[in-house]
Amino acid sequence: MSTAQQRVDARDKVTGTLRYGADRAPDGLAYAAFAVATAGRGRVISVDTDAAQKVPGVHLVITRIDPEELGSPGFIMGGGYGFQSFQPLTGDHVAYRGQPIALVVADTLLAATEAAELVTATYKPEPFAVTLDAPAADTIVQSQAIPLPMLADTVTGDADAAFAAAPVQIDAEFHGPAQHQVPMELISSVAEWRGDTLVVHEGTQNSGAIQNGLAVQLGIDPGHVEVISPSVGGGFGQKNSLQPHIGPLAIAARRLGRPVKLVLTRPQTFHQSSFRPVSRQRVRLGADATGRLLAAIHEIDQQTSRHDLFPALYTEVSSRLYGIGNFRGRQRLVRTDVQTPGYMRAPFEHISVYAIESAVDEIACATGQDPVAVRLANDTARDPVTGLPFSSRHVAECVRRGAERFGWAGRNPEPRSMRDGDGTLIGWGVAIGAYPGNTAPAIAKLSADTAGTIRVAVAGHEMGQGIRTAITLLVADDLGIQPTAVQVSVGDTRRAPQHLTAGSWGTATALPAVHAALRELRTQLGLPQTGPVDLRAAVAATGAPRVDAEATTMAQGQPAQAAVDRLRKGLPAMAGPEYPGFVTFSYIAHFAEVRVEPTTCRIRVPRVVSVADCGRVASPVTAASQVRGGVIWGIGATLREQSLVDARYGGFLNSTMEEYPIAVNADIHQIDVDFIDEPDPLLNPVGVKGLGEVAMVGVSAAIGNAVYHATGTRFRCLPIHIEDILASL
Ligand code: MOS
Repeated sequence: MSTAQQRVDARDKVTGTLRYGADRAPDGLAYAAFAVATAGRGRVISVDTDAAQKVPGVHLVITRIDPEELGSPGFIMGGGYGFQSFQPLTGDHVAYRGQPIALVVADTLLAATEAAELVTATYKPEPFAVTLDAPAADTIVQSQAIPLPMLADTVTGDADAAFAAAPVQIDAEFHGPAQHQVPMELISSVAEWRGDTLVVHEGTQNSGAIQNGLAVQLGIDPGHVEVISPSVGGGFGQKNSLQPHIGPLAIAARRLGRPVKLVLTRPQTFHQSSFRPVSRQRVRLGADATGRLLAAIHEIDQQTSRHDLFPALYTEVSSRLYGIGNFRGRQRLVRTDVQTPGYMRAPFEHISVYAIESAVDEIACATGQDPVAVRLANDTARDPVTGLPFSSRHVAECVRRGAERFGWAGRNPEPRSMRDGDGTLIGWGVAIGAYPGNTAPAIAKLSADTAGTIRVAVAGHEMGQGIRTAITLLVADDLGIQPTAVQVSVGDTRRAPQHLTAGSWGTATALPAVHAALRELRTQLGLPQTGPVDLRAAVAATGAPRVDAEATTMAQGQPAQAAVDRLRKGLPAMAGPEYPGFVTFSYIAHFAEVRVEPTTCRIRVPRVVSVADCGRVASPVTAASQVRGGVIWGIGATLREQSLVDARYGGFLNSTMEEYPIAVNADIHQIDVDFIDEPDPLLNPVGVKGLGEVAMVGVSAAIGNAVYHATGTRFRCLPIHIEDILASL
């Protein structure tokens, strides 16, 4: 296979031929733009649209949609389809600054934009909260507010007693900022009615939710909604559900009798889709004099919106990162006046593990142990929460191999001991990461023809992570055919029922379904279950022009009918990380070097070594790219990214790419990626676990621990800024 084929859409991407949702320009296309609220919370008293209506080319200015015409999509974590339950434009309530108050549709983007900017409104303001400690913020205990077993407080043993008795104790508070995803492709859609069928082109991770959710909102049959999303220009959780712009867009298209396109502006994406919420964590770790962990108490306050409870899952990972027998978790939600926060790459794990792995580093320092040795000494083969074995857990091997590749043995453990000739402080840090091994149901459809081409349709979305490549390589390897003979359709509700692609379950969901369908295809072709085949001859021998095969798979132990029903309804239907008889996580170890320049205090990350255990590596080129992307994001999350608020105004202040700095090329140096590549023997027959999110978990802790090693100061509030270093010297 040539190098180009190792990422099947590489050529189309770099030559610009790949089509994204908003690239679609059907005949008669009109353009939409939103005007947004400038109050932090309150009621809309009046909206003045006169000036907007007078802009040449403007056809519609919608300020209110009857809730009978457009219902709530429901909250995706509350039985619905939306990233939030609140549907703007259907009432006079302003839930947060930046929510839409009018939708303008015009012949051109220029006219729509100009008109939207001319819309003004008056408000009856109400007190609001955008920070955890604001008087109007409302703190509730998650286990009481949402009584679901998966959201209950994790408790094993007696953590409080064990902590009190532990000879070595760490008690620290960590602060995680709000952050936004900032994918290259803005949130955008083209909505188009063909008779009574609504066709939506949109970059999404969840075409099934858009299909079924729009049907609910508009009161139509889901069979009359088609969602087409073959390529997504980055999702990262921002595009994981039905966005509130699509319903109004569909109504505008129907009223106008024309297809309508809407591309949110970058600042609007900061207010009209989910984000990583603010978090505050208190971590107490108790250990013996050798660094053996005896107790952990992990308490979290996480921001949510006023209208939805975005469930927190920080302790799912912190309770089983190590074999700690005594663990007590407690998760609280803080209601604030923002859009509902949500899942942003490694949503809880990134910041949860930052706290835990920083505290573990403090245990290593307090006990005089090597940070690598402490991590190896606390490894476990059994899940301490359930007592079940892990299906596979090669985190110790990740640590050992990473230490070797990084040259960890050359580290002087003394903080501030390693320096360059010009006085630059050098720090080396390590951290591990884990991410739950989730699985969702999927239906895979194969069609092989006499030309030797095989078409595959399955649940999944290609957001740059490489799912199309992974599926192509699986089919090509299985049948012994060229990857060019495989055509993969994902993200298209017309071809196969579409489930949310998120939570790193894409590969471990789509591949087992395609694997099962391949077995069925071989049976229908009268071929042995394994080994290379002459597909053209086998299809020809049946006398039919093509042979179809289909298979349905789901998570182990999952009730089949219920799971498939939810898949067909576009509802989340995943299971894991606990399965009958075992528990599955993916793992990684990161080693980071930082250099802190002595006069400017600028922190640079010249090299990172990352070794991942994601089961069998299904697609080597895209897998390595996933890990590099996770490390790059980890560098940004540690040193740059923070969505700022002003408590006087609400909304997010730095909502452009100029003011929300993400890691850029100049920030990125050597990233050395390796894989254990051991198939997981239990999770699925293909042996794959997830990778997309575990890649980022622990990066911030490795960098933070390296900054401590370089400077002798522990920073527990992300991001770590130059001024923080300056103030510490
Ligand atoms: Mo991912 S943050 O679960 O889309």
